[in-house]
Amino acid sequence: MAALVDTARFDTADSLTSRSTPSRSRLTLQTAEIAADTTALRCLDWDRDRFDIEFELKNGTTYNSFIIRGEKTALVDTSHGKFRDQYMEDMIRNCDPQTVSYLIVNHTEPDHSGLIADILAWAPHLVVVGSKVAIQFLTNMIHQPFESLVVKSGHTLDLGKGHELSFVSAPNLHWPDTIFTYDSLTRVLYTCDVFGMHYCDDMLLDESPHLLQEDFQYYYDCLMGPNARSVLMALKRIAKFPIDLIATGHGPLLKRHREDWVEQYRSWSENQTKAETFVALFYMEDYGYSDRMAKAIAEGITKAGIDIELVEMSVADAHEVRAIASSANGIVVGMPPQQAQGVGMHPALSTLLTSVNKKQSVGLFETGGGQDEPIYPLRNQLQAIGLKEAFPPIAIKQAPSEVTDQTCYEAGVDLGHQLNKDKTVQQSKQVNSHLNRALGRLSGGLYIVTAQKGDVSGAMLASWVMQASFEPLGIAMSVAKDRAIDSILQSGDRFVLNILEEGHYQPLMKHFLKRFPPGADRFEGVETYPATNGAPILAQALAYIECDVTCRYECSDHMIVYATVQAGRVAKREGITAVHHRKAGNHY
Ligand code: FEO
Repeated sequence: MAALVDTARFDTADSLTSRSTPSRSRLTLQTAEIAADTTALRCLDWDRDRFDIEFELKNGTTYNSFIIRGEKTALVDTSHGKFRDQYMEDMIRNCDPQTVSYLIVNHTEPDHSGLIADILAWAPHLVVVGSKVAIQFLTNMIHQPFESLVVKSGHTLDLGKGHELSFVSAPNLHWPDTIFTYDSLTRVLYTCDVFGMHYCDDMLLDESPHLLQEDFQYYYDCLMGPNARSVLMALKRIAKFPIDLIATGHGPLLKRHREDWVEQYRSWSENQTKAETFVALFYMEDYGYSDRMAKAIAEGITKAGIDIELVEMSVADAHEVRAIASSANGIVVGMPPQQAQGVGMHPALSTLLTSVNKKQSVGLFETGGGQDEPIYPLRNQLQAIGLKEAFPPIAIKQAPSEVTDQTCYEAGVDLGHQLNKDKTVQQSKQVNSHLNRALGRLSGGLYIVTAQKGDVSGAMLASWVMQASFEPLGIAMSVAKDRAIDSILQSGDRFVLNILEEGHYQPLMKHFLKRFPPGADRFEGVETYPATNGAPILAQALAYIECDVTCRYECSDHMIVYATVQAGRVAKREGITAVHHRKAGNHY
């Protein structure tokens, strides 16, 4: 084992002491007493120069893990797998596995969960504590049984000796699994990624903010900024805790300037969310299939480029519900369970009804919980206030299927489209009209793309299609990212390109331009027969081509889908391809 080295840069006046153990590979471990009965194990990765693919690091990074010793001992997060030997040696030296009762997992990305399997092998009896999503992720990650405890905002865990831990749900920061852990005795808030920075130094605390500022902001911009609304929600939830130290999972711990760092998060997030269009999606994580349906709807809304704020109704207080419901552009509600007889409506719904306004769009879904609040009375009340219905209520009576997922996804896309409409009209007026008209002289054919994947089918009118290769024969087509069918046009998926005929395309075009309710059968009333690849061929098409999606290229607001061509046929009658002439280049 490497020798212990004093690092004399820590403020002993605050009872913080530490030592670090260098190794030849520039991976070093620093341990420090940071509060009563509390030790930090900081794994210093001096030379790491990249995080994920796009995140360039100038100053390495650290992975911070913690031990809290009450009558029971809890570990808070672990470390990256590359620190296995050093970390486990230190853990074995510092703790008796028999006394370790809990491993709190604030976030499951491998830089913090890379040693969970090793910890479980060392202390197999311990209980893994995390959000519902975190426990699901870990079950799939470590492939071994373990005892677990699911926690969310409002839950507590008493370790004894005054260390009562409170948990705070902080979904989307930056994964859906994130929680914070707060120790009421030491006033330490453990936040894993949040408030972190990729900055490697054996400086334990935020002594020199001018050295840290650039990395702190870069980290926020890359990881937290995209979820600024969730940052604000998390800040509200921790406001009630007096905090002496923010023990982050990366970089120095925040003590000297903790209020400044928090204020910076608040100010950046407020600026970012000021003019944003967003949907508030109210659901209940532990009731029926609410979380699965909410996730599918959220995916559709996000696909349409609209931000989403997930609100877990069992933990959000009335103030949060009111603030979010009154400022959102769209509202989606997964029905919560009915209250006991005589108690009235679920409190979150009552607050919601007094907070929404007639400028908003709304969609409702039943969760399959069996005892849902009735959906239609709420629908009537919302309509009476004047909210526009974005999609008809989605109701399930049994476990959701792939078709339910697709229905929910399409409902989300529809809501997103509705909210996008005004924005698009506004933007289209800003395009230079000469350029706009010139671009409009580009023309294309008229096609209906049809696809079938399992029980899920889809269709869309397309015009931006061209042959793209000879060997193999291939075509390229541009698909707007917010098209519901895009989910079944991924690499490896199959579709049919139905070519419409000049002079005879109107009925088919009219049919497929209709607005379908989510989950509706797009082919009802249209004559079809199945292609070899399973997708519907339109009997009235001039010709069809069977295609396999080979690759996709992101192209701003569209995806270019390249597909190889497997089979095709022309109708017996003579005919030419319908052409789509446009007036302007800024819409179809
Ligand atoms: Fe530091 Fe999201 O992992």
